[in-house]
Amino acid sequence: MDPNASGLAQRLAEADQSHLLQFWSELSPAEQAELTLELQGMDFKEINGFFKNAMETSSSSKQEKMDTRMEPVPREVLGSVTRDRECLKDWELAGLQCISQSKVAVLLLAGGQGTRLGVSYPKGMYDVGLPSHKTLFQIQAERILKLQQLAEQKHKTKCCVPWYIMTSGRTMQSTKDYFSQHNYFGLDKNSVVFFQQGMLPAMDYKGKIILESKGKLSMAPDGNGGLYRALGNQGIIDDMERRGVEFIHVYCVDNILVKVADPAFVGFCVQKGADCGAKVVEKTNPTEAVGVVCKVDGRYQVVEYSEITLATAEKRSADGRLMFNAGNVANHFFSFSFLRDIVQKHEPQLQHHVAQKKIPHVDAKGQLIKPDKPNGIKMEKFVFDIFQFAKTFVVYEVLREDEFSPLKNADSQDGKDTPTTARHALMSLHHRWVLNAGGHFIDENGRRVPAIPSLKDGTDLPIKCEISPVVSYGGEGLEELVKGREFHPTLMIDENGVHELVKNGV
Ligand code: UD1
Repeated sequence: MDPNASGLAQRLAEADQSHLLQFWSELSPAEQAELTLELQGMDFKEINGFFKNAMETSSSSKQEKMDTRMEPVPREVLGSVTRDRECLKDWELAGLQCISQSKVAVLLLAGGQGTRLGVSYPKGMYDVGLPSHKTLFQIQAERILKLQQLAEQKHKTKCCVPWYIMTSGRTMQSTKDYFSQHNYFGLDKNSVVFFQQGMLPAMDYKGKIILESKGKLSMAPDGNGGLYRALGNQGIIDDMERRGVEFIHVYCVDNILVKVADPAFVGFCVQKGADCGAKVVEKTNPTEAVGVVCKVDGRYQVVEYSEITLATAEKRSADGRLMFNAGNVANHFFSFSFLRDIVQKHEPQLQHHVAQKKIPHVDAKGQLIKPDKPNGIKMEKFVFDIFQFAKTFVVYEVLREDEFSPLKNADSQDGKDTPTTARHALMSLHHRWVLNAGGHFIDENGRRVPAIPSLKDGTDLPIKCEISPVVSYGGEGLEELVKGREFHPTLMIDENGVHELVKNGV
């Protein structure tokens, strides 16, 4: 339909976005229809407002001022798997009880584009090259299965941990297809709920929406904080209420070690009466790409790695540790009532963050330009921006080697957070589980491999060992399988038993 007749041209003119129709006459009828559909679904006034606010709050002078307002997390809100060892069992039991009563749900943020990893499919479908070749989705699904089983065994009652999976327009269909092709990895199909976050256009520095081709806007997901809007407008909050969910563990797709619905974390938060909690690891390197949990003006917040100044990131306390060392591993706990309040009341107060990007676009002649320096912004909300509304906020510190190894980048020499580092982190954790359960590894000469393998030929390859989550969620239940036994790597422990895949291979 003609944009003048439909009123679309008028709406665009009022919002100062008329350039979006500049190639109208060159488009095919199908392209015109598609562009019309996309534009009709957009609220330009709102988008212009987002742009204005985001640019105001992201100005560098404001950022520097924020540094002076940051304070570390106080000890009294902190629980730690190392310092509070004596409480761990209690927390775990409390969490498992909630799980057995089907009060706990997990919510996966999987709407990202995996740009840094460079794959065109959803990151959860990535195979990091484990002996089993399981993908991140499968590992997480099996951990949920196992947890349900552990809770059922302990409390002699059937339970369910619903799994909510947030995707974006680009990843929804492939994610759904993948789960259905794999029969939901043994989970109840009705308890795996997919929903879709929103998208926002990229804009140039003057607030004009960027065209990536003559008839197409440059669109990107609205950040993992797009969650809250989506929870409301996709009916997910209602679904949670119907199922009687009281506590939600929200996490990111890329951490191969993630303890989904971690009973100890859930139990800790519940026992502290928290409405909101964050899991952290100690940040030891000032430039590591993790946000830090801290207080700003007395309110809890994560200051993202892209938003902290180097001077503040490098500050140290008297004990030599980084002052802002509560590294956000993107694992959050929310009570249902807190989450519902956010969705129903506070969501519109959340500000977008600005990411400056090199955004491919067409110029006035319709030529595609691939800029070599940032030419515009993407606007994103962040999942942790709701911490400020918490009445009782807690922080739970865990060990990096047990719980955090994210997959962000493609493999490269000495690369950080790559498929190789993720694979090694998982195998070395499982190696330790076997040792803790009384098993041993032997090398090709029949000699026991020391608990901490020496660097062999300058390499530090871990022992190849993989334990299926359907056998063990967190290292439990392995004694009867491995105690007093010696294994050649590669060791696989799965639903079919204990096997050595390649004799003599390390
Ligand atoms: C994120 C955290 C950072 C933390 C780090 C740990 C945020 C905003 N930042 O950073 O504080 O230290 O993980 O690894 O959480 N996603 C969506 N929709 C989007 C964008 C992202 O669902 O629009 C999902 C991704 O699929 C992923 C997660 O959010 O599961 C994190 O996204 P990513 O861009 O990788 O976050 P980081 O910058 O690494």
